[in-house]
Amino acid sequence: MVARRNWADKEDGSGMRCAWTVCYIENVSRMKIKRISVKSLSGPYSVVAGAGAIRCAPQEIASLGRFSSVHVISSPKVWRALGKTVQRGLQLPSRNAIHLFKDAEAAKNLRSLEHIARSLCRAGADRKSLLIAVGGGVVGDVAGFAASCYLRGVKLVHVPTTLVAQVDSSIGAKTGVNLPEGKNLVGSFYPPRLVLTDPQLLRTLPDREFRCGLAEIIKHAIIADARMFALLEKDMEKVLRRDRQSLHFLIPRNVQIKARVVGGDERESGLREILNFGHTFAHALESATRYRRYQHGEAVAWGMIAAAFLGHELGLTRADDVSRIVALIRRLGPLPPWPRVAPATLLHVMRSDKKSCSGILRFVLSPRIGQARTYDMVPIHAVERVLHLTPRLITASANL
Ligand SMILES: NC(=O)c1ccc[n+]([C@@H]2O[C@H](COP(=O)([O-])OP(=O)(O)OC[C@H]3O[C@@H](n4cnc5c(N)ncnc54)[C@H](O)[C@@H]3O)[C@@H](O)[C@H]2O)c1
Ligand SMILES: [Zn+2]
Repeated sequence: MVARRNWADKEDGSGMRCAWTVCYIENVSRMKIKRISVKSLSGPYSVVAGAGAIRCAPQEIASLGRFSSVHVISSPKVWRALGKTVQRGLQLPSRNAIHLFKDAEAAKNLRSLEHIARSLCRAGADRKSLLIAVGGGVVGDVAGFAASCYLRGVKLVHVPTTLVAQVDSSIGAKTGVNLPEGKNLVGSFYPPRLVLTDPQLLRTLPDREFRCGLAEIIKHAIIADARMFALLEKDMEKVLRRDRQSLHFLIPRNVQIKARVVGGDERESGLREILNFGHTFAHALESATRYRRYQHGEAVAWGMIAAAFLGHELGLTRADDVSRIVALIRRLGPLPPWPRVAPATLLHVMRSDKKSCSGILRFVLSPRIGQARTYDMVPIHAVERVLHLTPRLITASANL
């Protein structure tokens, strides 16, 4: 199948090194696929990203070593949409190595973990088996956690199928499940050995899910890449139409940004916190609406607007940067409305968030587009004001 592979290292202007793998595959015209290396405490791993990356699976997986068996973990919905394509790409031998579980957020729990572990056991998975997670963030988080604890750890490959998973959740080693008491409360840091990121797998993804991925892309632009922010301002309509060239640039670029941030801080002791821009507000909105009103990316979109307002309120973020942030987010399309919940209630939720240290509110704020850092001891009255004003200002500026 693969006749030849060719490598050339390239510096991308941001000081980050990436390699371009060029695969020549039967019946497929030449494709450029990027290889991005992610630093991890247990050794680096590659994200192989680009249209057709799934067809590089056999030789990429072979380069990881020999496995006694290969087990795909996915969901009925994802497998219905993509099973054939993925199976063809992976060149999997038998059907009994496919383990499906429902990937609703409500099923991201210990019961699904047990279901997967028992199914692996019945299929004879041993310590030398490989698990391949095929799906969005829910599949990736649960399968990743299963890989980290099944027989005390088996090797893991991610094949992300949502935009959120491709630019965010498949990179950075966080795995886990929810408890009735809260989201992601049980989990581990467990890096994959390989991530195969193929934008062609997004073809069946609903628009609402796609826009959630764009919200995380906007977040990356705000915290780390002013040029990408300007590009999104210029090309948002093309991006929303899933223009191939735009995705060809955006997906690897966002993988690089996430890889650079988590590479310096896999276990979230400092630098990685900037990835939480907009998320303190977002988690409060999600929790106050019992995870029913918003997709995560939609809550993040609201959260980034609130974080921009908070930055301005504290004299950090300039008014024109705030306007640009708000305007770009609004171009994603309508968001489910801000809930009718008192600011004091949202504030209470924020103080009990697992990311707030001893109830003290810390926020990631952006002093200018392309930069972000964490601010401690943000005055409560400023946060309350933002919680009060955000839904009013955004409604009032409907035609922004
Ligand atoms: N580990 C991390 O660092 C990290 C980062 C961000 C988010 N997450 C987690 O990821 C989860 C959200 O992930 P998500 O946004 O990818 O959504 P998701 O996994 O919930 O998937 C959304 C929906 O899209 C469907 N789907 C997935 N791929 C599809 C495809 N190609 N075609 C058609 N349908 C498809 C799924 O079946 C599901 O119904 C949350 O649980 C969140 O906590 C984890
Ligand atoms: Zn997020």
